[in-house]
Amino acid sequence: MSTLLLLPGDGIGPEVIEQVRRVAGRIAGDIALGERDFGGCSYDAHGTPLTDEAEAAALAADAVLMGAVGGPKWATAPRDKRPEAALLRLRQAMGVYANLRPALCFDALKDASTLKPEVVAGLDIMIVRELTGGVYFGQPRGIETLADGQRRAVDTQVYTTSEIERVSRVAFELARGRRNKVTSCEKSNVMETGLLWREVVTDLHKRDYADVTLEHMLADNAAMQLVKNPRQFDVIVTDNLFGDILSDEASMLTGGIGLLPSASLGEAGKPGLYEPIHGSAPDIAGQGVANPLAAILSFEMALRWSLGRPEQADRLAAAVKAALDGGARTRDLGGTLTTAQMGDAVLAGL
Ligand code: IPM
Ligand code: MG
Repeated sequence: MSTLLLLPGDGIGPEVIEQVRRVAGRIAGDIALGERDFGGCSYDAHGTPLTDEAEAAALAADAVLMGAVGGPKWATAPRDKRPEAALLRLRQAMGVYANLRPALCFDALKDASTLKPEVVAGLDIMIVRELTGGVYFGQPRGIETLADGQRRAVDTQVYTTSEIERVSRVAFELARGRRNKVTSCEKSNVMETGLLWREVVTDLHKRDYADVTLEHMLADNAAMQLVKNPRQFDVIVTDNLFGDILSDEASMLTGGIGLLPSASLGEAGKPGLYEPIHGSAPDIAGQGVANPLAAILSFEMALRWSLGRPEQADRLAAAVKAALDGGARTRDLGGTLTTAQMGDAVLAGL
């Protein structure tokens, strides 16, 4: 039997995960669902945003599905006790080095983007973001006070050959099942890590993936190209920080951050971590108006990538598409449906 650990978290997290529970019950009732506190709610209840017990439960599950973490309430907590710190710790503990962030423009929503519909219609990009290295984890880091009284902050961007190679391999493999093109983004014109990144990707391509089209693009240019002509991209592979930024940008091409799921994968056979890419949205939390589709589509990715159930994933993806084609819209998409009513619309399609 498969086990899925739910980490609803903070803000709108519990509301959107509730809809995942309903969908999971309908489509895959044999999956055992667990649940733990995570993020700010865990800090309030247990004094830490991620307990050792919750971390162990995540490592023992077949997949982990998170809602959202963080909020103004915990902005002043000590840095290592903040919800965001727990998320980074969980990603690292699970070893999920490849973060898959699709930016897919549903046909029914091509008018919802801030870009012209003819620019985004049919858009289907997969961003592969390195997730357990780079400046997010590099040492040394910290803020020190200098002799003259001013302060000095340091972050370290660091990558090894193997870290670059394993995430690039994921990108090339994905491209083969799509339109067979990988765009690797870095700043090799100014950064040593960028230079190594370009070399390692080039070597791996030559060695194992010569059949895939590889293109290198400086990350700033990629940011520009994403709004200029986004459909030139198929798979984008990039480091942790550039991936954080480019994936937020790409999400806006699709008409809504409330729609976009993500999957974070590590070594084969290890549990994946699935999360909507939206945050905890404290401004609308508790009102029952959040869009649950990003969470539901994250569950769809879990069915596909960790739980070995591609048919159920296909059915769920089709039900979401049918709901949108049928005009189902939450507030973020210009409609009036509540979170639960959007859940109903997906259930109807199942
Ligand atoms: C994301 C978020 C996180 C990140 C934050 C909440 C730590 O922005 O998942 O993209 O920077 O990775
Ligand atoms: Mg981000």
